[in-house]
Amino acid sequence: MEIIEKAPAKINLGLDVLYKRPDGYHELEMVMASIDLADRLTFRKQPEDTITITTNSGFLPTDRKNNIFQAIEAMKEAYSFEGGVHVELQKRIPVAAGLGGGSSDAAATFRGINRLFDLGVSTEEMTQLAIPIGTDIPFCLKGETALVTGLGEIVTPLSRPMPQCWVVLVKPKVSVSTPRVFSKIDVNTLPHPDINGLKEAIEGNDYQGMTQLLGNSLEAYTTAKFPIVQLIKDKMLAFGADAAVMSGSGPTVLALCDKHSRAIHIANSLKGFCQEVYVVRTLNQ
Ligand code: C5P
Repeated sequence: MEIIEKAPAKINLGLDVLYKRPDGYHELEMVMASIDLADRLTFRKQPEDTITITTNSGFLPTDRKNNIFQAIEAMKEAYSFEGGVHVELQKRIPVAAGLGGGSSDAAATFRGINRLFDLGVSTEEMTQLAIPIGTDIPFCLKGETALVTGLGEIVTPLSRPMPQCWVVLVKPKVSVSTPRVFSKIDVNTLPHPDINGLKEAIEGNDYQGMTQLLGNSLEAYTTAKFPIVQLIKDKMLAFGADAAVMSGSGPTVLALCDKHSRAIHIANSLKGFCQEVYVVRTLNQ
């Protein structure tokens, strides 16, 4: 028997860093949505008590360093199912991009193992196991447009999905380390986007209002380190994007457009500049 799970990428429409907590993590307030760009994971049981991972991506570890491996170990420890698991990962989401690819793979693994071994574990129980592995996994387990607070573990779905539109993603060829960004920022000087206003605009299905309120506290730091991020954002706006913002700790920049033709125009105009360019829709529509 095999189980197939899709692992959609996430975008941050808003990301505010409130303060640094005594445990070293940062208290966050974010608005997140899932998009139609996904990895695909296939799970199979194997008789030997081992975890094996194969992938079409040359960039990823296939041992304990991989979130998929850690998610299987956590499920095994908590629910002690018989035998091992083989996972085949078809990677489409860019790696280390601010699009939550590793977290979404882990979330898909929790769901996949739950189904493969018929464990009947709830999303809440999987969320508890997920937090030590990655703070974006709780959102990925739910997948709906949501207000995400705490470290990332408090996921409150909004009363409606984000207004329909096209999303252009551009990832420059630089790698950003999330722990490094969090360790370098000065929380006292960060800008604070209006997360509550953004949430209300989305819940009111107000596309214009939403585009005016996109914002990311981490953008200034990553932009200062990698000026290409600002260049991409400026180009997107010059080519007609309704709004543009960096996702997560970067370096991917996302642009929103209500017209498909405009999204294609922006994507084509940026293709000569960056190799990784995608035009996608949001999910849950
Ligand atoms: O999401 P993930 O757990 O992979 O986060 C990577 C790193 O980012 C953490 O180890 C931590 O250093 C930092 N982080 C943080 N506050 C958060 C989330 C992540 O400081 N709320």
